Amino acid sequence: MRTLTVFAQLCIILCLSISTSHVNGSDEKPRVGIVGAGISGASAAYFLRELFGDDVEIDIFEKQHVGGRLAPITISGHNYNAGGTIIHPANLYMINFTDILGLTRDTNPEPGRLGIFDGEEIVFSTSDYSALTIAKLMWRYGMDAYNIKTWVQEKILKPLTRLYEFQKEGHAFSTVEDLLNAIDPSFVEFSKKSVKDLFKGEGFSDRFIDEFVTGAMRINYGQTSSIHGLVGAVSMAGVEPGLWNVVGGNHQVPQGLVKKSGAKIVRGKVTAVSLTSEGSPPVYQIDYLPGRSTNEDDMNSKEYDIVIIATPLYNDMSDIKFEDFQTSIKQVPEDFHLTVASFIEGEPNTTYFGVDSVDSLPNAFFTTNESTFFNSFTKQKPVSGETAEKTVYRVFSNKVPNVNELKQLVPEWSDIRVVNWMAYPEYPSSVQLPSFTLHEQMYHINAIELAASAMEMSAIGAKNVALLAYYRYTGQYDKIDEILTKSDGAQKSEL
Ligand SMILES: Cc1cc2nc3c(=O)[nH]c(=O)nc-3n(C[C@H](O)[C@H](O)[C@H](O)COP(=O)(O)OP(=O)(O)OC[C@H]3O[C@@H](n4cnc5c(N)ncnc54)[C@H](O)[C@@H]3O)c2cc1C
Ligand SMILES: *[C@@H]1O[C@H](CO)[C@@H](O)[C@H](O)[C@H]1NC(C)=O
Ligand SMILES: *[C@@H]1O[C@H](CO)[C@@H](O)[C@H](O)[C@H]1NC(C)=O
Ligand SMILES: *[C@@H]1O[C@H](CO)[C@@H](O)[C@H](O)[C@H]1NC(C)=O
Repeated sequence: MRTLTVFAQLCIILCLSISTSHVNGSDEKPRVGIVGAGISGASAAYFLRELFGDDVEIDIFEKQHVGGRLAPITISGHNYNAGGTIIHPANLYMINFTDILGLTRDTNPEPGRLGIFDGEEIVFSTSDYSALTIAKLMWRYGMDAYNIKTWVQEKILKPLTRLYEFQKEGHAFSTVEDLLNAIDPSFVEFSKKSVKDLFKGEGFSDRFIDEFVTGAMRINYGQTSSIHGLVGAVSMAGVEPGLWNVVGGNHQVPQGLVKKSGAKIVRGKVTAVSLTSEGSPPVYQIDYLPGRSTNEDDMNSKEYDIVIIATPLYNDMSDIKFEDFQTSIKQVPEDFHLTVASFIEGEPNTTYFGVDSVDSLPNAFFTTNESTFFNSFTKQKPVSGETAEKTVYRVFSNKVPNVNELKQLVPEWSDIRVVNWMAYPEYPSSVQLPSFTLHEQMYHINAIELAASAMEMSAIGAKNVALLAYYRYTGQYDKIDEILTKSDGAQKSEL
């Protein structure tokens, strides 16, 4: 009799706890649904595992391939990076990821000379001999060529070290603007004027801006120096030496992080996210078409406590529907920029560039004239680090080039591959920065792309979102949106 009572009591407790968990949707382990297995989604899974330990179940939905905009392309048996290529030596998350995953960094990815082509001739090229390069730079741009390095170091890279410190201490921010403010309020100011106006104001010459800065914006973003100053300035960090990429291809980073995080990849296309329980904490449902199915009858769904959108929720970029939310879930209003990457195996037309031999041709060109059909022309090195038997050139353009245009650059080719990328936002001169937080426990990592699109930015956004999700889940609200002082480290100010 007595035993039965105990059993009955136990049952009541158990049954209650089961039904409670059902009502709240909060099982022992929180369930996280991530949409997108690019570097954003993969690094979010990695950081979430770091924060929650074993006490989290992570699903990552991927409709195409793990890696997203980091993808390899094969030509004559050699792989090249088809999308995101260059990583900066100050990109500490990317460096750490390669270390953790046992990957090797190639610190000499595109060696050799850089040239600027104005549509008719090479107006400038660096030389293999650095003394000569400096002399040439000084001759054409005065002190600007030197000052830009110092400027980027002081105004961009130094403040960024602060970001790594406060993220390490666990500070998280609801909006992109608050995150930037915590790095340095000047970052927000930079995002409110064009890079042209920013650098003019900082004393750089028109010639430097129209050639060097414009050329850099064209190769990096397919856009002009009228894009906002923050993305412009961040991408000028490419003037630093020590740029690198991953031996074997950059896509191995997201692939490795997914494995390391123990997240489960769910192959399929997410069509909708809905709020199934308004309660605190809320419960979300993700609807998806498994595999490559387009048949509505195959529709599946799963419930989550935390949802992370790790793909651009921008104008025309996403067809994910948000249903049953009390407030509207807004997309970022900006469009995405089409960058076409053509990989051509063959010999370049030296006459076109006004030189007499391939040897005197710079390895990488950027162009400065908007009426030139291509933004850049760059000799490629296989990601294996080996030398290919035949040279491959990469042409970036803002629309699909026609055969005759490409033939001007490389008259005869043995192979050609063209990849169309919805690559990065179309940047306005002054930007309204979006929020990471879409709903109580629903986030958008790619909000950070409107500040600047780069692999490291994705990792920074992913770290911030993982922290936000963790603190909300564990009720540590004091860790979110704290105001940091400008002093060293990230100390809490008196409120
Ligand atoms: C041509 C090019 C050159 C670049 N060069 C550089 C560079 O040199 N250095 C640098 O740092 N950055 C560079 N970038 C930018 C960099 O590649 C991106 O910022 C970064 O890879 C973005 O990663 P992500 O995970 O945020 O997005 P993505 O890589 O786009 O990942 C999103 C993923 O979500 C998936 N997905 C989307 N919708 C759904 C859905 N409904 N259901 C399921 N899955 C879905 C997609 O298939 C994709 O795999 C470049 C980009 C391009 C295109
Ligand atoms: C990189 O890894 C090292 C060693 O684990 C760690 O001390 C450091 O904080 C990491 N850096 C960042 C930016 O997370
Ligand atoms: C090379 O470029 C020059 C100059 O634009 C052009 O006249 C010539 O036709 C090109 N050569 C080939 C083989 O296409
Ligand atoms: C750009 O190229 C066009 C066509 O070649 C030329 O007419 C124009 O003068 C060039 N503009 C500049 C600023 O060089």
